Amino acid sequence: MNLTEWKQKCAAVEAEYKKQIAAAADADVLEAARVASLGRKGALTELLKNLKDFSIEEKKEAGPLGNELKKNLEAAFESKEMTLVAAKLNADLEKTNIDLTLPGAPVAAGHYHPLTIALNRMTAVLSKLGFVWADGPQIEEEKYNFDYLNIPAHHPARDMQDTFFIAGKPGMVLRTHTSNVQVRYMEKNKPPLRIMSPGRVFRKDDIDASHSPVFNQIEGLYVDKNVSLADLKSDLTAFMKGLFGAKAEVRFRPSYFPFVEPGVEVDVKCVFCDGKSPCAFCKGTGWKEMLGAGIVHPQVLRNVGIDPEVYSGYAFGMGVERLAMMLLNIKDIRAFYENDLRILRQF
Ligand code: DAH
Repeated sequence: MNLTEWKQKCAAVEAEYKKQIAAAADADVLEAARVASLGRKGALTELLKNLKDFSIEEKKEAGPLGNELKKNLEAAFESKEMTLVAAKLNADLEKTNIDLTLPGAPVAAGHYHPLTIALNRMTAVLSKLGFVWADGPQIEEEKYNFDYLNIPAHHPARDMQDTFFIAGKPGMVLRTHTSNVQVRYMEKNKPPLRIMSPGRVFRKDDIDASHSPVFNQIEGLYVDKNVSLADLKSDLTAFMKGLFGAKAEVRFRPSYFPFVEPGVEVDVKCVFCDGKSPCAFCKGTGWKEMLGAGIVHPQVLRNVGIDPEVYSGYAFGMGVERLAMMLLNIKDIRAFYENDLRILRQF
């Protein structure tokens, strides 16, 4: 075959398959035409094989021509294929009665649990006061939950916190408070330090409107040179005002915890009865106890290798649920745990 004949054959193949492409009414016919022209034994493939018999000069002309033709045909098949796919899709849609212009089914957007909402607000205020987040384990060694906090085995404070010990694991407890984090943190970090540690705690307790055997606390700890009760009072007052607004009233009462000296209990004026009429939340006293606090006991500092002659600190542990109840106007602690959607959806 000479070059002229070859070119004529190429033109014929092009014309023939462009015609077939235009006429193809479905994907199967189109695919058959593609195999017949571009397949391994296709008409164009066979023609391109002839290139090797041409002289160098002829190849310079025929090579690019052949390639061009191949690309052209490939593109024509591809574009026809897309047209057929779109046409089939439209035809299928015509047959159904789906109205694609209707708005979709709404996806229910989730939201935070009220306890998390309240917790986030508390930690936001604390972080503005310079506290950084620290974590601790919920299954804890007795020494971190009790001994290093100045609560030896015989101490009545262990009874007060009716502990869940873990069967078959002597010396392991479900932590009764977040105060374990104080010790763990000070073992690894030296002052100045200022941490908050929110988390779950466990005590054998009855379940009623204000008690639950599992609840949450936030521990706070600030240790530096010259930290005093004045710092504790001003920071906790700032915290309560940051949380409840500038009108919040705070009351400090002397109290006892083995790991602080002196110790205090901090009450907030009840928001439900405004301190005037008796209510179930504050039991008619007009105040609700929100947290325990105090100046870190020198022995606790010594237990973690911090010199109490150089450093002092304050600590506090507050009940997240209690604060959350006041903050979100929830009068029964069980509302946090029962997952009643009628309640949860209000937040
Ligand atoms: N751990 C105490 C409790 O659960 C609360 C507490 C009191 C924490 C005084 C403190 C503190 O850090 O200084 O009842």
